[in-house]
Amino acid sequence: MKKVGGIQFIDNISKIAESIKDASLNRRVFIITDENVHAHCLSRLLPYLPATFASELIELEPGETSKTQEIANHIYEHLLECEADRNDLIINIGGGVITDLGGFVASTYKRGISFIHIPTSLMAMTDAAIGGKNGLDLGSAKNVIGTFSHPTYIYICPEFLTTLPKIEMMSGFAEMLKHGLVKDKHLWDSLVELAHPDAESLQKYIALSAGIKHTIVERDFLEVGERKLLNFGHTIGHAIESVQLEKGISITHGQAIAAGMIIETTISEELGLTNAQHRSEIITAISKFYPKLDWLPSFEKLKQYLRNDKKNKAGECRFSLVKAPGESIYDVPVSLEVIERVYNRFI
Ligand SMILES: NC(=O)c1ccc[n+]([C@@H]2O[C@H](COP(=O)([O-])OP(=O)(O)OC[C@H]3O[C@@H](n4cnc5c(N)ncnc54)[C@H](O)[C@@H]3O)[C@@H](O)[C@H]2O)c1
Repeated sequence: MKKVGGIQFIDNISKIAESIKDASLNRRVFIITDENVHAHCLSRLLPYLPATFASELIELEPGETSKTQEIANHIYEHLLECEADRNDLIINIGGGVITDLGGFVASTYKRGISFIHIPTSLMAMTDAAIGGKNGLDLGSAKNVIGTFSHPTYIYICPEFLTTLPKIEMMSGFAEMLKHGLVKDKHLWDSLVELAHPDAESLQKYIALSAGIKHTIVERDFLEVGERKLLNFGHTIGHAIESVQLEKGISITHGQAIAAGMIIETTISEELGLTNAQHRSEIITAISKFYPKLDWLPSFEKLKQYLRNDKKNKAGECRFSLVKAPGESIYDVPVSLEVIERVYNRFI
């Protein structure tokens, strides 16, 4: 088992049970998960826990639509009915929706009780479960409500990925590409050479990708500086995701971020921050893995979400942009006119 900060990389599911036993000694445990993860992951973990291990299960419907205040309220009410107190422990086992929502509930219920994340999607293992950002969507606006609060432990076990659908694998892969693009050219070069990113071929890059995020977060937990780099692709990506959520169109977080990275790389070239060669290399590589961008919403729709982006200053959009693979910059002011001009080239 390899340890980085509160993160433990665990090579098989039976060993997670050992860690849970230690962490939950003399505490009541509440497990938050979703139906898919219960069927595919929790069911593989529970047999390794001792018969004496007692827990209360809170199972949600899978998907982004569970990341709401309403669902959080149901969980608070349930915890209250069970007389959960601050000595108890919440275990969030699932993808980024469960770690975001479960982390939010745990960090706000009775002003915060201890929690552990067991990420089961590639997205959660390499990104969502790391860094202490927890949150909910407000209507279709992504991650508007949230806390900064670290779990006590994060147990990352790639064995769970064997049941993850391919579309979800590609969603997490987008964030790994982002980690390479903003900070690690070697990771980027290795990932884009993969013919088929799957559980087996990606396994050796999970710790590296998670480590990049962890290191940046350690240096800038509250995102006043360097952590903003991790928002590359997310200004446009979140706005696209919010429009699709509003329209009831299903899209993975990673698909939106891949589109965001392509468009934001073009903005970077438009501003003279990157050159045509890097732009072409980046866009060609990302396009190899994701569907053609013929599904993007109109700029009119996007604009309302861009105006509310959390990085804006005095009403002006601020972007994190890539200059070259492994080299990036944050707090770049970009006018709505430039964003619109570039965006419209893709629709
Ligand atoms: N807090 C952060 O720093 C951060 C960073 C990136 C993303 N996020 C958030 O994460 C969310 C996206 O996360 P996600 O892509 O994991 O989505 P998700 O949690 O919806 O999981 C994707 C799907 O895969 C299923 N699943 C998960 N693990 C599985 C497994 N091992 N086998 C079979 N099915 C499995 C889930 O039930 C779900 O249907 C978004 O809400 C995004 O905003 C947060």
